[in-house]
Amino acid sequence: MKIYVPMDSAAKALGADDVAAAIIAEAASRGLEIELIRNGTRGMIWLEPLVEIDRGAGRVGYGPVLPADVPALLDGTLKGLGRVEQIPFFARQTRLTFARCGVTDPLNLDDYQAHGGLAGLRRAAGLSSTEIVEEVTQSGLRGRGGAGFPTGIKWNTVRQAEADQKYIVCNADEGDSGTFADRVIMEGDPFCLIEGMAIAGLGVGATKGYIYLRSEYPDAIRVMQEAVRIARANGVLGADVLGAGRAFDMEIRVGAGAYVCGEETSLLNSLEGKRGVVRAKPPLPALQGFLGKPTVVNNVISLATVPVILEKGAQHYADFGLGRSRGTIPVQIAGNVKHGGLFETAFGMPLGELVLDIAGGTASGRPVKAVQVGGPLGAYMPLERFDTPFGYEEFDGAGGLIGHAGMVVFDDSADMLQMARFAMEFCAVESCGKCTPCRIGAVRGVETIDRIAAGDPGAIPLLTDLCETMTDGSLCALGGFTPYPVMSALTHFPEDFATAKEAAE
Ligand code: NAI
Ligand code: SF4
Repeated sequence: MKIYVPMDSAAKALGADDVAAAIIAEAASRGLEIELIRNGTRGMIWLEPLVEIDRGAGRVGYGPVLPADVPALLDGTLKGLGRVEQIPFFARQTRLTFARCGVTDPLNLDDYQAHGGLAGLRRAAGLSSTEIVEEVTQSGLRGRGGAGFPTGIKWNTVRQAEADQKYIVCNADEGDSGTFADRVIMEGDPFCLIEGMAIAGLGVGATKGYIYLRSEYPDAIRVMQEAVRIARANGVLGADVLGAGRAFDMEIRVGAGAYVCGEETSLLNSLEGKRGVVRAKPPLPALQGFLGKPTVVNNVISLATVPVILEKGAQHYADFGLGRSRGTIPVQIAGNVKHGGLFETAFGMPLGELVLDIAGGTASGRPVKAVQVGGPLGAYMPLERFDTPFGYEEFDGAGGLIGHAGMVVFDDSADMLQMARFAMEFCAVESCGKCTPCRIGAVRGVETIDRIAAGDPGAIPLLTDLCETMTDGSLCALGGFTPYPVMSALTHFPEDFATAKEAAE
């Protein structure tokens, strides 16, 4: 009998380690032979710890499981959830990037290969660098970190650059509130990211890679370090990748916890041992990146999606999606929801379906008021925008952005003036200080919103002006995008900005 207990850090936070220990102890006391596998999460966080048992007829789920449930679990009398793949939240997904996540043992390379792992890298090893980049271009993959820049075009810039050394840098500084897709894949399917980085290396002619991983993710750091060691020991990384005569190796570097180090040029400064401040672009990192050399800087999900593109072909991937948003996107559902977790779907699903149907509405049972999509710099989307399909251009047209696809839901008790204030405060705390609109503007923004709250009617146009200045004059997205949450709150929820004013009058 195989028993799966996730070692994902969300599952661990909810007691998965205690459940695993209770299963081992109970099985030993009964003389029961079991194989306990610590898998990644299936992404249904509200069911964690989600224990799966395979008695030979598929994997049946139980959750959330407490240590006290373990005797009944092993007796077969605990009420189950049925086959995990048939739980509606899971069954409705299109899992391409996360196909193995939660299914396999994350640190078992044989298990990885038995589920399609390394097929993409094997194919890439037989292709020229131009052909690899062309395949990624044709797939329509765009940067999943947030900006949505076409990955193939970025790779081609690096491929064509003349240099004695090029680099692949993976941005794993997942700082957006409400996002966790990078962490889930690093903890649940680390070889997939390694494979994607190796393919990128072969594609652009880079022999060295770095994962810049945030210190707040100790489990992901441990799993990735062990996975790199195993990959190297088995010839997936090193001087002769899969015996194809081409070199690629990589290492993990741990960031110290600044939001702005998720911005690619700050990240490169930090990786070089310097202070994490933003560099002006141009020069693009693609031409002068890590140590001044041509560098691909891609988010975890962009790189972890490359293996399936090479394995199944560009067309297979491009067949999913909507408009210029091709393939799938792992939507991370958080905040006040019944069903929080990771939902990988083809682009195109309307926002309202994700919030009201997939996420099941609010956990509080009160009406949904707003959803912030795209992290702390994303716009608050009101109910009137719930028909917006999940896609880069579609969200842009609705005054929002999908960013890294995090979604934080709020019920009608949320005070949107306070949410706007929080956005300015966040920017003031996290600003790297290099440019004035962000460094000073965010502080003035907090003060101006406080004036609105105190009933000063002249402060509203001042806030609008300030947001315009921050949008137009900031060097990077931190200062430049903070106006999204602020202005969307002001535009869609004017009543929250008027109450204090009216009270004062
Ligand atoms: P950007 O639009 O300046 O650049 C996007 C990417 O394309 C960069 O890697 C840039 O170097 C590259 N690029 C642009 N033109 C190129 C060319 N001609 N050839 C090759 N490469 C080229 O956007 P930026 O500032 O890098 O990212 C902003 C986004 O980051 C926002 O949309 C925001 O949603 C997201 N973000 C994500 C966070 C996370 O935790 N994942 C945190 C904060 C922001
Ligand atoms: Fe630094 Fe803010 Fe300017 Fe970005 S916008 S460079 S974080 S001061």
